[in-house]
Amino acid sequence: MDSTTSTGQKNTYNYKVVRQFAIMTIVWGVVGMAIGVFIAAQLAWPWLNNIIDVPYFTFGRLRPLHTNSVIFAFGGSALFATSYYIVQRTCHVRLFSDGLAALTFWGWQLVIVAAAITLPLGMTQSKEYAELEWPIDLLIAVVWTAYAIVFFGTLLKRKTPHIYVANWFFAAFIITITLLHIFNNLVVPVTMFKSYSAYAGVQDAMVQWWYGHNAVGFFLTAAFLGMMYYFIPKQAQRPVYSYRLSIVHFWALIFTYIWAGPHHLHYTALPDWTQSLGMVMSLILLAPSWGGMINGIMTLSGAWEKLRSDPILRFLIVAVSFYGMSTFEGPMMAIKTVNALSHYTDWTIGHVHSGALGWVAMITFGSMYYLIPRIFGRVLYSLKLVEFHFWLATIGVVLYISAMWVSGIMQGLMWRAINADGTLTYSFVESVQAMHPYYVTRWLGGTLFLIGMLIMAYNIFKTVTNPEKGEVNDKIPEPILAH
Ligand code: HEM
Ligand code: HEM
Repeated sequence: MDSTTSTGQKNTYNYKVVRQFAIMTIVWGVVGMAIGVFIAAQLAWPWLNNIIDVPYFTFGRLRPLHTNSVIFAFGGSALFATSYYIVQRTCHVRLFSDGLAALTFWGWQLVIVAAAITLPLGMTQSKEYAELEWPIDLLIAVVWTAYAIVFFGTLLKRKTPHIYVANWFFAAFIITITLLHIFNNLVVPVTMFKSYSAYAGVQDAMVQWWYGHNAVGFFLTAAFLGMMYYFIPKQAQRPVYSYRLSIVHFWALIFTYIWAGPHHLHYTALPDWTQSLGMVMSLILLAPSWGGMINGIMTLSGAWEKLRSDPILRFLIVAVSFYGMSTFEGPMMAIKTVNALSHYTDWTIGHVHSGALGWVAMITFGSMYYLIPRIFGRVLYSLKLVEFHFWLATIGVVLYISAMWVSGIMQGLMWRAINADGTLTYSFVESVQAMHPYYVTRWLGGTLFLIGMLIMAYNIFKTVTNPEKGEVNDKIPEPILAH
């Protein structure tokens, strides 16, 4: 329960849960990215797998810990924080239930801790991004149901006539993740820590990648677009470029995303027509994705000069640019003949991180720099450090993804190179050797990105403990969002 703010003002909104999730976003960001840097080092210097003779810290065990911690702990906490903040501010009401909101916070942290224990121990359903075993999945279902009640309950009791577009994106995210989580985790438990999928063979693969792709589409995209539609207009102090486009963007995006999963299963036992359907839907997806990107970037039209002086806005806009880049690259990689080269290579890893670091992490950084001073009622400690963070992050991403493009395309070409007599030109080991410099470069890029994250953590720590009090963004109605 939170009735007063740190400046003593009476608070109409529940900012306590927003603050808790916002702080954990920073904590899990540091943890998840540090694991990322470590596994990147393990790929560059494999002896790091065997420093101590236990399996828990080997690449295979830590990789899912990295993906779970950055996506669900870092990204998830950011989404809880921002959706709770945005829904209250745009509906002009307090959250539907403080008790259930608190349950989502503690429940979600418990899920993360359970993941951090079970994954290094090797307990896994072996489904990418859905590795957690069934008891944890049940806990996720409870937390998610509470989240849906809080979010939709708040929408229902809103005092505004219409539902601002950011909330539409969050709503779609909550509903779709419910469906994905339930259907992809239908399993037969055999012990407390072991279960088998209810599906078999190619159906299992199809359900998994329907889940996997839409985890990207709804967790890592739609919900972060909700952030974009709120924080860019607020930070730029301009209305959204086109509210009409935002509605078209919303419906087109959610309709198309759900069909694109088969592009993860090209040239497999999946029926060929299904693969082609996935490819076509992925190509169509370029249009709504770019519609959204244009809407975000053009919100700045007439105020471009702000980019020069405002590193927070720069984070937000550069994030949307990376979103545009990865949603151009994705449809290209979904073309079967292109995928024949890119699949199984580091190109995919480069694509993932141009979305994950460039889009997801950067939009989160910009949003948190906007949000945290306002919910804590403090002045941001240092804009100079934000500026420094921005450059470290940008150089870090560029190093990471360009290293992976070169490495990935080189791998693909080496694997398919054939001599005149039909034998392979290169052995697999030669391709592994050739990747080494790029793995070192990726590690360096990741390290820069992590240093930026640590600087952010310091800046935020100094902000929340800053004796200089600032405005609590509480009572003011939303003035600038849409025409
Ligand atoms: C300092 C930053 C980061 C570093 C150094 C890093 C490093 C890595 C490494 C080395 C891998 C394994 C690649 C492989 O198996 O070949 C990986 C996988 C992955 N990372 Fe990161 N990562 C970072 C941040 C992030 C963030 C912020 C996200 C998401 C928001 C993310 C999402 C993923 C995903 C989804 C995969 C699996 C990709 C796939 O299976 O295709 N990473 N990361
Ligand atoms: C129009 C949008 C997009 C399309 C059509 C698309 C398409 C693709 C394709 C074709 C692959 C390679 C599949 C394979 O060969 O296995 C892929 C992998 C991936 N993409 Fe995207 N992508 C899009 C946007 C994004 C964005 C914005 C993100 C991140 C925020 C993202 C995250 C990922 C991840 C995590 C994987 C690796 C999945 C895995 O194998 O573990 N994608 N995407």
